[in-house]
Amino acid sequence: MIHRRRLPQPWSEEWTLEDQRKLWLRPISPADADPLRASFSLLTPEEVRMRFQHPMSELTPEMAFKLTNLDRNREFALVAAEPEPPGHALIGAVVRAAIDDDGKRAGFAILVSRFLAHQGIGTLLMRQLLRWTRLKKLDAVYGDVLQENTAMLHLASQLGFKRKPADSPGMARIEYQRGT
Ligand SMILES: CC(C)(COP(=O)(O)OP(=O)(O)OC[C@H]1O[C@@H](n2cnc3c(N)ncnc32)[C@H](O)[C@@H]1OP(=O)(O)O)[C@@H](O)C(=O)NCCC(=O)NCCS
Repeated sequence: MIHRRRLPQPWSEEWTLEDQRKLWLRPISPADADPLRASFSLLTPEEVRMRFQHPMSELTPEMAFKLTNLDRNREFALVAAEPEPPGHALIGAVVRAAIDDDGKRAGFAILVSRFLAHQGIGTLLMRQLLRWTRLKKLDAVYGDVLQENTAMLHLASQLGFKRKPADSPGMARIEYQRGT
C-alpha cells in the first residue's frame, strides 16, 4: 500500500512506497524537459512500444518541450518523481491527457517505469486522471492500447473503462464514460 500525504500545491502529494522510497506526485513542469529525456533513455524498447505504440530511439528536445509545456486549459499531466525540485528530479511515471477539439472528450496516455511498477502507482495516477475528467465535466476519456497490453487492459477494466473497437489493427480502445 502506498502511504499518501497531501502537499499544499494543487494535485501534489508525497507518496511513501512499501519499501519506504518517497515520490512526489505533482503537475509536470517546463523544468522537467531534460529529466524527462533522461528518464526516457532508461526505458526498455518494450515500455516505449506499449506507451507510444511504435519504436522510438529518443525523446527529442522538441518533443520534451511539447510534453512539458502544456496548454493548461486543455491539457493535463502529472508526474511521480523523486522528491526534488522539478529539473533535478528523475521522473518515474507520467499520466497525461488532452481535450479533443469538440471539448467533450480527452485522450490519455500513461507510463509507469518498470522500477516502480506493480505497486499501485498506475492505478493512483489513473484515479487522478478521472478526477480531472470530472472537474472538467468531460463526457469521456479514452486511450489506445496494444491488444497484447494485458497490464493496461486489466488496470483500466478495474477502474470502469470499457473496451471499444479501435481504428487500427492490433489496437484496443479503452474508454471511461463519466456518469456510468
Ligand atoms: C500498465 C501500467 C501503467 C501499469 O502500471 P502499474 O503501476 O504497474 O499498475 P498497478 O500497480 O496500479 O497495477 C494495476 C493492476 O494491473 C495489474 N498489472 C500490473 N502490471 C501487470 C502485468 N505486467 N501483467 C498483468 N497485470 C498487471 C496489477 O496486477 C493490478 O491488478 P490487481 O489490482 O488486480 O493486482 C505500466 O505497466 C506501464 O506503464 N506500462 C507501459 C506503458 C503502457 O502500457 N501504457 C499504457 C498505454 S498508454
